[in-house]
Amino acid sequence: MKRVDDFRLCLPGSKQELVPIMIGGMGVDISTAELALEAARLGGIGHISDAMVPTVSDRRFKTRHVKEKLQQYKYNVANTDKAEVQFDLGTLAEATRMHIGKTMEAKRGDGLIFVNCMEKLTMNGSRETLRVRLNSALDAGIDGITLSAGLHLGSFALMQDHPRFRDARLGIIVSSARALQLFLRKNARLDRLPDFIVVEGPLAGGHLGFGLEDWAKYDLATIVLEVLAYLGEEHLDIPVIAAGGIFTGTDAARFLELGAAAVQVATRFTVTHECGLPDKVKQEYFKAREEDIEVNGLSPTGYPMRMLKGSPGIGAGIRPNCEAYGYLLDDKGRCAYIDAWNREVTLHPGEKKLSVKDKTCLCTHMRNFDIWTCGQTTYRLKDTSRHTADGGYQLLTAEHVFHDYQFSIDQKIALPDELALAS
Ligand SMILES: Cc1cc2nc3c(=O)[nH]c(=O)nc-3n(C[C@H](O)[C@H](O)[C@H](O)COP(=O)(O)O)c2cc1C
Repeated sequence: MKRVDDFRLCLPGSKQELVPIMIGGMGVDISTAELALEAARLGGIGHISDAMVPTVSDRRFKTRHVKEKLQQYKYNVANTDKAEVQFDLGTLAEATRMHIGKTMEAKRGDGLIFVNCMEKLTMNGSRETLRVRLNSALDAGIDGITLSAGLHLGSFALMQDHPRFRDARLGIIVSSARALQLFLRKNARLDRLPDFIVVEGPLAGGHLGFGLEDWAKYDLATIVLEVLAYLGEEHLDIPVIAAGGIFTGTDAARFLELGAAAVQVATRFTVTHECGLPDKVKQEYFKAREEDIEVNGLSPTGYPMRMLKGSPGIGAGIRPNCEAYGYLLDDKGRCAYIDAWNREVTLHPGEKKLSVKDKTCLCTHMRNFDIWTCGQTTYRLKDTSRHTADGGYQLLTAEHVFHDYQFSIDQKIALPDELALAS
């Protein structure tokens, strides 16, 4: 049987051979620049994410975007109507250019760095904010953009006047051949095909492109084959990248043998040093059992999301923080969490501590790493490491996990070297 290292990924129009391993985007800053840089150094593709990028810029570069936005809209904090709370497009462009530009400056090795860009971050001005995010990423020299969490029917058009529109690597995440067909139809007039298509199945982390009730009946291999068949019928030669639940090098090689050009993986990297989750949270991922993981409807985006049931953000009744964040406000300044929170305030007048059970304030909780989104295979992470003396697990290096995907065979998982015990 072949292993991943027997394959190489070539993107259209390029002779450059990449290791066919892409680390998926994980917002908010879970797939850090450090993680993406490692993937690129090792010859694969890494992702950063532009989710909540002003917030990420504040953390990374000590800018003050969040404080300044909150200051500007402080008068509105107690108001249930958030329509006035807008993002300053100049600030958004600056934060995007800084996050991406500094990452690209640090890039070493032959691999690539892409940015994951979620359409569902509507930011109370979906079209204009997305236009700024996409074009600023191209300005900052990103190697490629992966369009995610949405159908992105108009996203290519938002970049069509950018000088890099035809040479940057642009791709999309789909969960069905039908979604791909829609995307291609809608963009036919631009004469610009995607350079890669990520097919994400139902076992992935983050938001899912399936229904809350029926996600479990879908299967990644079947969808990959459907997408490959559709591309074949249309005589389109676009690399297909399989994602969701690919846990070992053997799983990955199986998809490459099936016709995928690469795999996108994420969950196994959540327990690496380079991952942005706090170390305490990484231990929660290690410890998770299968019954601790659920797909629920708590995300205000309307998409099902997979997470650990023990996430502290579940059931928390915090006041919406849109004056500081507001990334999920739709074009009318609304968000399903605000509606849920307002309902609880009306039902429990004067109550100091509210609990909102059906929705979660994703901005604040993702920013604070209190919603622990994860892939379905998270419960297997404990098999990828060793116990530490304190009963926890040893964190891994991204290089270790990357090489395990690249070189392992027979469903084997390489454990890290044993830590030298302190004398
Ligand atoms: C912690 C975590 C956060 C994620 N966040 C995002 C995200 O912000 N945008 C996105 O498109 N996909 C997101 N994903 C999905 C991954 O990019 C990837 O496609 C998928 O999880 C791969 O499956 P695996 O985790 O089973 O390897 C996330 C996954 C995880 C585990």
